[in-house]
Amino acid sequence: MIKSRWSVALGSLVGILALLLLLAGCEGPQGLQGPQGSAGPQGPAGQKGDAGPVPSESQLKALIAEQLRGAPATVSSIARGGRLYDSWAKEAKATVPAGNQSLWALQTTNTRTGADTWRCKECHGWDYKGKGGAYSKGSHLTGFVGVYDAGTTKSQQQILEILKGATDSRHDFSKLLDAQSLNELSAFLSQSLINETPYIDYATKKPIGADVARGKTRYDGTCAACHGANGKQLNFGDAAAPEYVGTLAADNPWEFMHKVRYGQPGASMPSGLVTNWSIQDVADVLAYSQTLPAK
Ligand code: HEC
Ligand code: HEC
Repeated sequence: MIKSRWSVALGSLVGILALLLLLAGCEGPQGLQGPQGSAGPQGPAGQKGDAGPVPSESQLKALIAEQLRGAPATVSSIARGGRLYDSWAKEAKATVPAGNQSLWALQTTNTRTGADTWRCKECHGWDYKGKGGAYSKGSHLTGFVGVYDAGTTKSQQQILEILKGATDSRHDFSKLLDAQSLNELSAFLSQSLINETPYIDYATKKPIGADVARGKTRYDGTCAACHGANGKQLNFGDAAAPEYVGTLAADNPWEFMHKVRYGQPGASMPSGLVTNWSIQDVADVLAYSQTLPAK
C-alpha cells in the first residue's frame, strides 16, 4: 500500500519537474512565472511526463537556483504581495504570534501593541517611506526605515533574504509565512513600488494634478457596485464610528492608493494593478472619492 502510494507520488513529482523543465526550456525564464500556478493545475498532465526527459541532478539544481533568484512574478502574485504587506495575517490566514514583534522594542513612539506590530505597513508605512514619509509624525511614528529605497535599489533576492532574517534575525518572517508568500512580498517590493510624492501633497493630503470627472467615471464603473454610488454601502468601521470610502480617501490617501492598487486583504476587492490601471487612474479615483461623504 504505502509503497504504491509513494511511487504514484514520486511519479507525479518527477512529471511536474519534467514539465517545469520543459516550460523553462520552451519559454526561457518566463516559463517559471507563478510556480504555484503551473504546478497545480498542470499536475495531472505531468503523469505523462514519465515518458519524457527525466531531469538530471544538475538541471534540477539550475532550476532551483533560478527559482531562488526570483523568477519574473505574475501581476496577480505581485498584487498578493501588496496585500500581504498590508496584512499578511488576513491575506495568508496565518497566525500572528502573541505579544509584540521583537523589533518593536527598538522604539517607544508608536504605542500600539500585539497584532498591529507584526504588519509590514505599521513599521514601513503605506507610502513605503517609513520615517521619511507620512509616518514621520503622528501616532504611527516608529523611526523605522522605509522600504522604498530597498525596493528600488536592492535585488529581489536580497529583499527575500532580508525577509528571512539575513540582516537581522528579528526580521525573520520565514517561520510565519510560506515560501510563496515571501516570494510575493519580495516581488511586490522590487517590482511594483511607486513614489507617491508626485501624486499626493503631503501637507493637504490632496492628490496632485488629478481629474475628478475622470475619477467619477472610473468610480461609478468599478467601485460603486460594491461600495455604492456614494461610498456608504460598506462600512469598515462600526455604527458609532463609521468609515467609508470617502472617510479613508480624506484621512489616508496613501492607504487608499495602496488598497486600490493591490486590493483588500482577504476580500474580493479587485486590484488596480491586475486590471491594468495607471497610477493616474488611481489618483483620479482618489480625488473623486475625497468628494464622497466621510460620515
Ligand atoms: C516591527 C517592525 C517591523 C516589521 C513588522 C517589519 N519590518 Fe521590515 N524592517 C524593520 C527594521 C527595524 C528594519 C531594519 C532597518 C535598518 O536596516 O536599519 C527593517 C528592514 C526592512 C527592509 C530593508 C530596508 C533597507 O533599506 O535595507 C525591508 C525590505 C523590509 N524591512 C521589509 C519588510 C516587510 C516586507 C515586512 C512584512 C513582512 C516587514 N519588513 C516587517 C522593521 C520592521
Ligand atoms: C467586488 C467588490 C468590491 C469592489 C469592486 C471594490 N471594493 Fe473596495 N472593498 C471591498 C470589500 C469587501 C472591502 C473590505 C470591507 C471591510 O473590511 O469591511 C473593501 C475595502 C476597501 C477599502 C479599504 C477600507 C479600509 O479601511 O480597510 C477601500 C479604500 C476601498 N475598498 C476602495 C475601493 C475603491 C476605490 C474601489 C474601486 C476602484 C473598490 N474599493 C472596489 C469590496 C470591493
